Amino acid sequence: MLAWRSVARLLALCLISTAAPLTGARAEDALDRELSQCWSCHGQTGRPSDSTMPVIWGQNAAYIAKQLNDYRDGSRDSQIMSSMAEGIPRARFAEAAERVAAKPWPDPAEPISKTHLSDLGQACTACHGADLKGGQTDKDPAPRLAGQNERYLVEQMQAFATELRVNQPAMTAMMRGIDAAQREALARELAHLKP
Ligand code: HEC
Ligand code: HEC
Repeated sequence: MLAWRSVARLLALCLISTAAPLTGARAEDALDRELSQCWSCHGQTGRPSDSTMPVIWGQNAAYIAKQLNDYRDGSRDSQIMSSMAEGIPRARFAEAAERVAAKPWPDPAEPISKTHLSDLGQACTACHGADLKGGQTDKDPAPRLAGQNERYLVEQMQAFATELRVNQPAMTAMMRGIDAAQREALARELAHLKP
């Protein structure tokens, strides 16, 4: 009898714990509502319809958090994004970044035609990760580049080279060291890279 009772109690506990993830899903909060505004530009399913906009779903969380900080304090210049970052309390940047990063990186916009990196592309793996899905330098997090939108990549590389974007000195140096045609070729390669 005693044994049966403890089995019953165990069963009941199991039921509660397996039911928990279903009924205990996190209720939508103010941060989710704030984030729901992001998809009008960054894509309702993670792939922006405008290829000058970056994919942010599934991006490196630490990198997203740093960008929100940089937009907020003006060290990365974008009027749109500065005002979007204003809408999120600074204390919740890390949490917001985690939620965006937890979403799946979307299917490629461009057909995959590259499975191997060029020599120049190979140089990026030191910081952006072996498969260019993001990494970490000793100081800053490096974003995923593989499968990012081509036009966005070109514009950002250009912005580093011309010092419109100044929030990463190593990237400025690297992009000043190559010419516009090389940046175009790199962007094409990265956008078409097998993730
Ligand atoms: C009105 C359009 C628009 C909305 C809405 C918007 N963004 Fe953006 N976002 C942009 C543009 C444009 C850029 C690129 C700006 C630049 O050149 O630095 C960008 C860049 C970013 C980046 C940097 C990505 C990278 O790869 O460096 C992050 C992170 C980001 N947005 C997060 C968000 C979040 C989080 C929200 C919602 C709170 C949001 N955005 C809402 C237009 C938008
Ligand atoms: C020494 C380390 C390092 C190397 C090598 C490097 N990067 Fe970066 N890169 C970074 C870091 C760190 C960032 C994030 C900058 C920031 O905080 O905004 C970055 C950002 C970028 C961005 C902006 C992406 C976005 O989502 O906005 C592009 C594009 C980029 N790198 C391209 C390249 C390419 C192409 C190469 C190879 C030719 C390369 N990088 C090599 C460290 C590096």
